[in-house]
Amino acid sequence: MHTPPLYRQLADHYLDAIRSGTLKTGERFPSIRLMMEKHAVSLSTAVQVCRELEDCGVLEARPRSGNYIRQPDDLPKPGALPPPAPVDTDVYVGIHEKVSWVLRASQRATIKVNFASAYCAPELYPLKTLQDHMIKALRQNQHLLGAQGPNCGHSALRNILARRALTAKANLPAERIVITNGATEALNLALRAVTRPGDTVAVESPTFYGLLQILESLNLRVLEIPATAHAGINLLALEQLLQGAERIQALIVTPNLQNPLGSIMPDANKSRLVQLCAQHTTVLIEDDTYGDLVDTEQPLSTLKHWDRTDNVIYCASLNKTLAPGMRLGWISAGKWHERVEMLKHTQSRGCEALSQLAVSAFMKTPSYERYLRRLRKILTQQRQQMSAGIARYFPPGTCVTTPQGGTLLWVELPRHHSSLALFHEGLKAGIQISPGDIFSNTRRFDHFVRIGCGAPYSPKIDEALATLGQLLKNQG
Ligand SMILES: Cc1ncc(COP(=O)(O)O)c(C=O)c1O
Repeated sequence: MHTPPLYRQLADHYLDAIRSGTLKTGERFPSIRLMMEKHAVSLSTAVQVCRELEDCGVLEARPRSGNYIRQPDDLPKPGALPPPAPVDTDVYVGIHEKVSWVLRASQRATIKVNFASAYCAPELYPLKTLQDHMIKALRQNQHLLGAQGPNCGHSALRNILARRALTAKANLPAERIVITNGATEALNLALRAVTRPGDTVAVESPTFYGLLQILESLNLRVLEIPATAHAGINLLALEQLLQGAERIQALIVTPNLQNPLGSIMPDANKSRLVQLCAQHTTVLIEDDTYGDLVDTEQPLSTLKHWDRTDNVIYCASLNKTLAPGMRLGWISAGKWHERVEMLKHTQSRGCEALSQLAVSAFMKTPSYERYLRRLRKILTQQRQQMSAGIARYFPPGTCVTTPQGGTLLWVELPRHHSSLALFHEGLKAGIQISPGDIFSNTRRFDHFVRIGCGAPYSPKIDEALATLGQLLKNQG
């Protein structure tokens, strides 16, 4: 028996209060903000509590006014709320067009302030140091540019990555690591290794739109499983799906700093997730793109750490943490290593060696850890400043996540706002945002916006936030 998730416990708590008459029909239900304060829960948890209560008919949302108690004929018993329903189990179509359309519109506009990026500002990366290491590598290897690099990547980098993984309690032997063109190629390879077109793959909802594009391009069916900023993927919903009639061939999860939620899964959930997938022979693909940006001094555990049956494929990247221009990522595919190696060879051959040599020379030094520590501190401050700016300028009722690391904030606007409309208006003013609508194939997130905090806070950024706030006011 495991403990129900927090939102479910809270929903039961309020259901009890309604049943006992502490909260009466027609009364106003506590606001999202109050719930976040009083129960110390995240925005998503508070929102999910309201949705649960709405679903069982005891809460009604009144536009611009809040949630009110209503008395259905038959109140569900405590603990008897139905498990959260998985969303959109249909064949997945159309996300490509939606995302491509948003990206194309951004490319055509003249952007003065970009809140859509998940990267840090270039000046926060150790570019001069990497350039010096590149020059040194070229001097030491005069024939470097004249020969093709090894298919799986350079051993110097693979060795360093294997050693660093040990501190995150994952054993990824260097000879079973393949260096890739970012996490994008790693995820593509993982999916191609374990699925066939038409198979079903589950993802967190909301999720990184690039992943939705990859899945569509591989002709895979997608199941979106609800996730919260508080604890990541909903294991009850997942379990229910795994027991259902439709076979789920693979599940892709970002356990540490999910994009866009910023969630971190508790260790107990990580362990349970790995166990569940192994039990149902669903391949678990771990995306650890942001793991090194978590605020804590000790690295958080990876899903791979809990993997006893070699059922987890680990994917990661240096593009957010070190050098987006180098496009370096990697995959450790365990028992699928040989297949991934073959696919990498047929798809693109080995990645170029110069970047790998420069990066591994830097990562070997203590300066790398010092650099990461400093970067995390800077990002913490930038997130706080951006959050304060949003609170200053966005309409009342706006809620923002407080992730424990990384570059992203997930902002929930009052329900009547449209992030796609804000995206359009923003572009006209030279401001780019990521509309929530592209993080899912459902329409559940159109009143959300993802805001990147990778750049140092400045008067220009402050002004852009004020403009977005004004545009939202104009929406009514
Ligand atoms: C969760 C997640 N996975 C994968 C990627 C792609 O990473 P890369 O740039 O290394 O290809 C991103 C990029 O934003 C991401 O947010």
